[in-house]
This record gives sequence, C-alpha cells and structure tokens, in this order.
Amino acid sequence: MEEIASLCKRRGFIFQSSEIYGGINGFWDYGPLGCELKRNIRDAWWRDIVQNRENIVGLDSSIIMHPKVWEASGHIAGFADPMVDCKTCKKRYKADNLCEEQDKKLIKTEKGFSLPDGTQCPACGGKDLTEPRSFNLMFKTFVGPVEDESAVAYLRPETAQGIFAQFNNVLATARQKVPFGIAQIGKAFRNEINPKNFTFRSREFEQMELEFFVKPGTDQQWHDYWVEERMKWYQSIGLPASSLQKYVYSKDELAHYASACVDVMYAFPFGVQELEGIAARGNFDLSRHQEFSGKSMEYFDQETNEKFVPHVVEPSAGVDRIALALICNAYHQEWVPASESGGAPIPAEPGKQPPQGYEARTIMRFHPRIAPVKVAVFPLLKNKPELMEKGRGVFDLLQKRWPCFWDISGAIGRRYRRQDEIGTPFCVTIDFQTLTDNTVTVRDRDTMKQDRVEIGRLSELLAGSLT
Ligand code: GAP
Repeated sequence: MEEIASLCKRRGFIFQSSEIYGGINGFWDYGPLGCELKRNIRDAWWRDIVQNRENIVGLDSSIIMHPKVWEASGHIAGFADPMVDCKTCKKRYKADNLCEEQDKKLIKTEKGFSLPDGTQCPACGGKDLTEPRSFNLMFKTFVGPVEDESAVAYLRPETAQGIFAQFNNVLATARQKVPFGIAQIGKAFRNEINPKNFTFRSREFEQMELEFFVKPGTDQQWHDYWVEERMKWYQSIGLPASSLQKYVYSKDELAHYASACVDVMYAFPFGVQELEGIAARGNFDLSRHQEFSGKSMEYFDQETNEKFVPHVVEPSAGVDRIALALICNAYHQEWVPASESGGAPIPAEPGKQPPQGYEARTIMRFHPRIAPVKVAVFPLLKNKPELMEKGRGVFDLLQKRWPCFWDISGAIGRRYRRQDEIGTPFCVTIDFQTLTDNTVTVRDRDTMKQDRVEIGRLSELLAGSLT
C-alpha cells in the first residue's frame, strides 16, 4: 500500500487534504488523474444503473436535510460505533475492529458492549483499555446564524435517505410503476473513529446508491437479481472475478427489518474488505418516514387494486473504495526490454534486479473504460516543425472524443514509461514515415506491441478498444 500511495501522490491521483497545513485525518483530495478516474467510475455506474434501464431514474438531493429525516431513519438514535481508548498511550480505537484484528469477538451486553479478556492496545501492548462507549458518527452543524439546539442539522451519513424522503415526488413525476428504482450519487460524511488504510475508511466519501422498490414478497428474487448484476458490473470495469468475493450475512447478523444482505468484497493488499452492501430492507425506511412525517408512503397498484408500502432492495457502493480497488488491481511491476521494440514484458521478481538488456517499469493496467487518460500523442522530435504540426492535428482529432495527453519532452521510451505509470492504454507516435504515408504507430500499453495505422482509421480503431 505504501508504494501505491506514493505513486498516487507522485502522479496526481490522490493527495492528502490540506497537506500544506500538515493534513487532516480521514480527508483526501483527488488530483487531475484521480478525478478523471472517479468520473469514469461514476459514469460507468450511472450508465449501467440509470441510462441503460427504463425503470430506474436519478435524483440529486441536498446534503443537509431536515433533522427529522435522521430521527426517522434511526441514525440519531443508533448510528454509533463502540469506541475504546488505551489509558496508557491514549490511542483511540473502534472496538469491533480492535477485537477482529486480535481474532476476538466484541461482547454484546444489555447496556452496550464489553471487550473480551486479553484485548490489548496494538500501539503499546497495554491492556488497560476503557469500556466501549457509543459514539455517534454523524457530523453536526447549525443552519442559520443562531447556534442553538433548534438550529442543529447533520451532514448526511448516506445518500439513501434523500431518496426515501423524495419517494412521493419522484413517483408522481417519473411515471414509474413498482418495481422501479431511484439512484443517486453524492458525498456522504461519517466522523469515523479511526480512519485508515489510505482512502478506504474516510470521513468524507462518495456513495452510489440505488433504492429499488418492489412488491412485498418479491424481495428475495430482486435481491438475488441485484447481487448478480452488481458482480457483473465490477467485472465490466476490470476487477477480475478471482479478486471479488461475496459475504452473505447470517440471520443473526441482519438488522431486525432486513431479510437478506450480501457484501461485495475485494482482496485489497490490507485484507479482503467491503466495496458494496446489497440489502433487502423490507419497508422499514418508507414506513418510518410515513410515521415521522405523517405523509402516506403507500403505492397503489392499478393492476391488482392493492395498496402497499413498497419494500426496497438497496445496492450501496462507495466510489472511493472502488477507485482504490481499481488502483490496487491495476498496479504492476514488470521487466521490459530496454529497447521498445525488443519484445514482450516479463513479470518482475521482487527484490531482484532485471536481467541484462531489461529495465523495470511500473504499469497501471486500468481497464480502458476506467483509464483516466485514453491516448497519448507524441511527435517524435520537438525541433521538427513538420512533425509537431502533424502531431497537433492528430491530437486535436483524438481529443474531441477522449481525454488525451500531449507529450513532446524526452526520449520516446521515457514518454512511453510515463504513460505506462498512469495507465494510458494507447500511445500514438508521429514520425518521419507519417510525413510520407500519413500513418502513425499505435503502441499498446500491456503488450508494448506497435502497429502502423492510417490517420484516417485511427479514431475508429481506438474506439473499438476504448468503448
Ligand atoms: N445506505 C446504506 C449504507 O450507507 P454502508 O454499508 O454503511 O451502507 C455503503 O455504506 C458503502 O459506502 C460501503 O460499502 C462503502 O463502499 C462506502 N463507505 C461507507 N463508509 C465509508 C467510509 N468511511 N469511507 C469510505 N467509504 C465508505
């Protein structure tokens, strides 16, 4: 992870927030390449979930909502983590994580939780830990100039409640019938006790949530459907099936209102961890908003003349976790022939030097759909105006369709290496032959093979691989 985090900083994927002031724990900024990567993740999700389906519509609700929303949702009463402090070194931990890391289980008591015998502080080894106390994860703020109890509001800890609160308005305007869904992408905020593993657990992050409303009794069938759809989507953006797992909740792990929950897990370098939860939540959320707002959340089924509060299946994913999984999955070290035309890359052996005639390269093998830059364009020599002019023409042509990179500095091999490190799938070089026959070389990031292609056919050829 250290190597990956260092590459993320060096190449402009992810920076520590407010770094010039020493940073702020749990907050991250995405640099020029990171924000393209995140945009590609959001676009791939939105296309698959909303634009490619007739029965799912979008929503963009506000981050701060009426505080009653969070009473109804149960977040004010119960969105809390048990927290413990080490009395010796004063470090603070999330109690369930602390136990898990020591192969122990946090004990549920009538009043809350207690630590199993022998739990120790991972920092100092001390066993003098406080009893777990409940800590609400919602960030509080005030709306308006007066900072009193009546002005308290919360930064949303999930985007889902905006969807439930607008259920009636969307239903009335979108001409949808159950089963149908409402999708939303947006920021969420949680005052995590112990942000860790780079961006994996942050205090500000982005969610992509779908609330899919179904007829009571069809929950299981739709839950199964969405688990499979979501597993396929992860593979479509380049995460191999072998790196993904499903964690199926047992009955006693489920919330009292839920009938099923499956987490999609990815094998990160720091362990197998959750990317997304897919839960069948019954009609808990809509019923609670009905109760707290006094507004009916019932749906009238014209075919059966029945009225019911729809049940919901909720696939809820984190953009930042998916970005981190894609970065981890893409990162490879290889040995490549020192001369570009010298053959195929071979896997690097950790701790060893490359063999004679080879050098090391870092490559980000992003799926072309996800790669932040799709094509780099290089005129062979910057001091030859004919090559520069021809190159600029090719660049302008390609930039109309894709994010492209123009690079004129350094030897061609170094320019290839810079693109390999940010995962650009194709490099196009304009050389002297271009001036005579209007062809360019197209170099493939993974195989390093080069093909000569006519400029007139370039867009069509690249489109075949990039879309
Ligand atoms: N509405 C359901 C919900 O919010 P969740 O499992 O708490 O469920 C859904 O969150 C997803 O949001 C997670 O699977 C994860 O990808 C992302 N997420 C949650 N907390 C996060 C955090 N502190 N940092 C980054 N991503 C987080």
